[in-house]
Formats: sequence, structure tokens, C-alpha cells
Amino acid sequence: MGKILTIADLKQQAQRRVPKMFFDYADSGAWTEGTYRANEDDFSKIKLRQRVLVDMTDRSLATEMVGEKVSMPVALSPTGLTGMQHADGEMLAAKAAEEFGVPFTLSTMSICSIEDVASVTSKPFWFQLYVMKDRDFVNNLIDRAKAAGCSALVLTLDLQILGQRHKDLRNGLSAPPKFTPKHIWQMATRPKWCMDMARTKRRSFGNIVGHAKNVSDLSSLSSWTAEQFDPRLSWKDVEWIKERWGGKLILKGILDEEDARASLDTGADAIIVSNHGGRQLDGAHSSIAMLPKIVDAVGDKVEVHMDGGIRSGQDVLKAVALGAKGTYIGRPFLYGLGADGKQGVTTALEIIRKEMDVSMALCGKRLITDVDPSVLA
Ligand code: GLV
Repeated sequence: MGKILTIADLKQQAQRRVPKMFFDYADSGAWTEGTYRANEDDFSKIKLRQRVLVDMTDRSLATEMVGEKVSMPVALSPTGLTGMQHADGEMLAAKAAEEFGVPFTLSTMSICSIEDVASVTSKPFWFQLYVMKDRDFVNNLIDRAKAAGCSALVLTLDLQILGQRHKDLRNGLSAPPKFTPKHIWQMATRPKWCMDMARTKRRSFGNIVGHAKNVSDLSSLSSWTAEQFDPRLSWKDVEWIKERWGGKLILKGILDEEDARASLDTGADAIIVSNHGGRQLDGAHSSIAMLPKIVDAVGDKVEVHMDGGIRSGQDVLKAVALGAKGTYIGRPFLYGLGADGKQGVTTALEIIRKEMDVSMALCGKRLITDVDPSVLA
């Protein structure tokens, strides 16, 4: 492999280092993967406006997301099974994000636990919550996130039932991995991954095992989700969650203007325009296509963030131009992590920062906080 210059380079490298079932888990979308592709493709249809002869010294990408200072408007998305892309993956990614000055969001479905991540970081991280039928378990998760000093709760709304990802079913995805001949082969061909994994104890869902009652089998994500996630989750539930949490609340998975307007009554601090990276409703619009409509629908009443399809700093610039106060990357940091652990996550962030900084300058802007629709052609 030559020089790593793009997120696509990291993806190629990750594919060589991560066992197929886990690489595919991160990489897949639901059903035809049409919405997954639209997330990326719709970014490429938006064109930036080239400007010349403007002072481009003293540039800054620094801004705020939900009142927290960030070195650029890019947070790490909550992603499931991150500790299967690389041993202790969530701890490594959280450290990389902290050093870079961007938020890290730990998924409920992570391999490293809330307490694991807290033990290796010194600044607050964010916690993503899935609501399970077992409300004692949910309350307990909220309390654990509070005790760990998490500074925002990201409540995911679009995965109370799981969209089908064909690759996962074909691969027989499980965590910890099962020892079938196919899986043994997939792992044996990735010796560095195996060596790192052999050195850690963290190979199952760290937030859940030992904390939730009646969790018989975590091996199948789809059956576990079907059994445990609460399909009755409603706007009313957002109220008790907000109350129990008592801190900054971010609602993730809003893709419709009506839902965006409804979210205003919850008093959430931000909403994330998201289709779960094309992993849920296949056939839905891309996030970037819906972003301006949702920004219009809510005005200044709530901070609007977005995720889905960001593969470059130019993409972040476009999202900010269309009204996003912040963006999130999932796959780009997972590819970095799979490719090269903590350093790979830092590399992913550096690639995006450089692309954003230079492109912003070429659009005639010095500050990300000044970027508005005028940078779009
Ligand atoms: C879980 O969040 C998933 O998308 O697999």
C-alpha cells in the first residue's frame, strides 16, 4: 500500500487487516444499499464556489457543538462493535478524538464499556443510548453514563427494529466470533488482528454483559435487537429519558420535517439528521438531501447536526454550508481504526481537517463559523 491520502485508502487498508465479517458489518447498508450509496452520491452533486484574491491567512475550523468547543465540526459517531474492528477499539478511538479535540460518542452496543472508556480519557465523552424493554437496565445505563462524566446523551430513534443487512446474515456475524471453519479462516488470514485481540479481554458487549438480566445470547445482533429493543418507544419516552439524564440531549435519526418539528417540544439541545448510514430504511432520502429542509423546518430553535455519507473535508464543508452546526463520521473513523488502530483514527481526522481547511480557503472563507450557503455554486 502506498501513501495514505484519503479515507478510501484507509478503507482499503482496513479491508486487508480486519476479518471479513467485521469489516462487512461496518461497511454494509440495508437491503439494496441504495440509501447508503445516496448518502455519498448526493454529496458529490453539490458544487463548491471557487473564489480568488481574498485574504486566506489565519484560518480556523474551531467552533462549538452543543456548547462544547470542538477543533472542527466533526464528531465520531456511535458505532456498534467498534472493538471488533481493532482490539480495544472504542478506547483507542476515544483517545484519538480527545487528543484531536473532537467529541467521541460511545455506542450502547460497544465492546469496551462506558467505564473502560472513562478509564483512558480525561475529558468527557458522549454516550449513545438505545432504549430496551428492560427499563431498569436503561436507567442503569443512563446513570452509568452520568457517573462516568459523559457530557451529552445521544438518543438513537431510528433503530428500534433492525433493517436487514444481507452481508451480516451471509457472514453469520457474531460477537464474540463463533469458531466455525469459515470464521476461523477469516480470522487466521488477519494475524495482526488476532494477536491484538488475544491480548485483550474485551470481546463481547461491554455495556451489557453482566448488567442486563436474561441476556442469554448476544451472538446474533438481529435476534438480540428483536428481543430486547423496545418497539413502542415514543415521544413521551423522550421526556423521562431527558429527565433521568438531566444533561445535554441529542436526538439521532431525524429524517423528516414533521419529526423535526415534533422534536422541538422535547427540549433537546440538538437533532441529528440521519438515516443510520443507510443501515435502516433502504429507499429513504440521503441525509444531505434532507438537511436543508430540516434546517428550514426548525429554524434556530434547535441545533441541527447531520451524519451519513461524509468521506472528506469537502463533504463537511458542504454540510456546514447547508446549515449543519456539526457533523459525524462513522465508517471513516472505523476504517482508520481497522487500518492502524489509534493512529489510523488520527489519520482519518487529519485527512478530513486538511481537506476542509484548504477547500474552505479556496472558497474564500477563513472561518468555519462564517461558512454559509454562499460557498455553494
Ligand atoms: C447498530 O447501530 C448498527 O447500525 O448496526
